[in-house]
Amino acid sequence: MKLFELQSFEEGGLVATERGTPSPCLGEVVIKVEAASINFRDFMIAKGLYNPMLSLPMIPLSDGAGEVIAVGNDVKDFKVGDRVSSVFWQDWNSEQATRMSSTGCEAAGVLSEYAVLPQTAVLKIPDYMSYEEAATLPCAAVTAWTCIMAANIKAGDNVLFLGTGGVSIFGLQIAKAMGANVIITSSSDQKLERAIELGADTTINYKENADWGKQAFEAAGMGVNLVIEIGGGATFDQSMEAIAIGGHISLIGALTGVQAELNLLQMVFKNAHTHGITVGTREDHQAMNEFFDKHQIHPVIDKEYSFDEGIDAIMGIASGQHFGKTIIKYNS
Ligand SMILES: NC(=O)c1ccc[n+]([C@@H]2O[C@H](COP(=O)([O-])OP(=O)(O)OC[C@H]3O[C@@H](n4cnc5c(N)ncnc54)[C@H](OP(=O)(O)O)[C@@H]3O)[C@@H](O)[C@H]2O)c1
Repeated sequence: MKLFELQSFEEGGLVATERGTPSPCLGEVVIKVEAASINFRDFMIAKGLYNPMLSLPMIPLSDGAGEVIAVGNDVKDFKVGDRVSSVFWQDWNSEQATRMSSTGCEAAGVLSEYAVLPQTAVLKIPDYMSYEEAATLPCAAVTAWTCIMAANIKAGDNVLFLGTGGVSIFGLQIAKAMGANVIITSSSDQKLERAIELGADTTINYKENADWGKQAFEAAGMGVNLVIEIGGGATFDQSMEAIAIGGHISLIGALTGVQAELNLLQMVFKNAHTHGITVGTREDHQAMNEFFDKHQIHPVIDKEYSFDEGIDAIMGIASGQHFGKTIIKYNS
């Protein structure tokens, strides 16, 4: 089988190679992968920016979907022919306070024609979804879902999404399905037009409006109930401006830096809730799948690469040109 292996963090360290088709051990399933999707983390991992101590070589990518072709002798919940996706955290469920192993980082990922995963790291995908769509869910969609659940968002609430990448566009789709009002920012007016087509109620170009947080506060009337914070250092202050009294900031990324100066009194007087989010548990993923099924949500796929273009797909995510998700289709 063909696969990609991260052998070093140097230029050229991500290489295409070949190996025999794998067999499952106890507790494992083997998937014929049909599609995978790219997250910003995959780029960071490949460059050594995510965990420079990571044990190499390893197979990249956390997110993929395909058909089960073999299961270990003791596997009861999956059978040959099942349509499944990977799960981001391989060893995290709601009863555990710790987790160690995520797909495509500490554990082997899915940028491989056949992927071996522990049964705890796969879930059946909704029937209405294609493999390409299901491959976009494990990281970005589960993260958006977990952030929205942490803030207990309901119909009529106001939510703010920063930029038009994978997490924000899933956030938009989930929030609209709940009946919430969506404010979204972007550096591109063209992308904001696409967000309006998906149901965004208010759009703000954050490059042209440095006070986008204040503008979002006003657009919501008395502030937003939730911001999904992807920017970190240079955006957190505006996100704090944007929230209503009792509002939530779900912090997931630090695209603009990991250090922020906080106005602690503003946090106090806003009765602000802040959540650090790391994707979510297997149960969060399952609950999100059920929500998507109920509302028949179709992920937004903007860019598609072939399997052989795996390296370009990972490196290309850093350009930020995409809207929603970038995928790799294995048999294109
Ligand atoms: N903690 C977690 O569980 C978790 C899970 C998933 C992702 N993340 C992190 O969250 C971040 C976003 O993830 P993603 O998958 O959505 O990434 P993505 O698909 O690569 O989206 C990147 C987009 O972010 C927007 N952006 C960049 N800088 C911005 C800024 N200063 N202000 C507002 N928007 C900005 C841009 O949107 P425009 O082009 O529209 O301007 C860009 O296209 C990444 O840092 C990622 O590592 C964390």
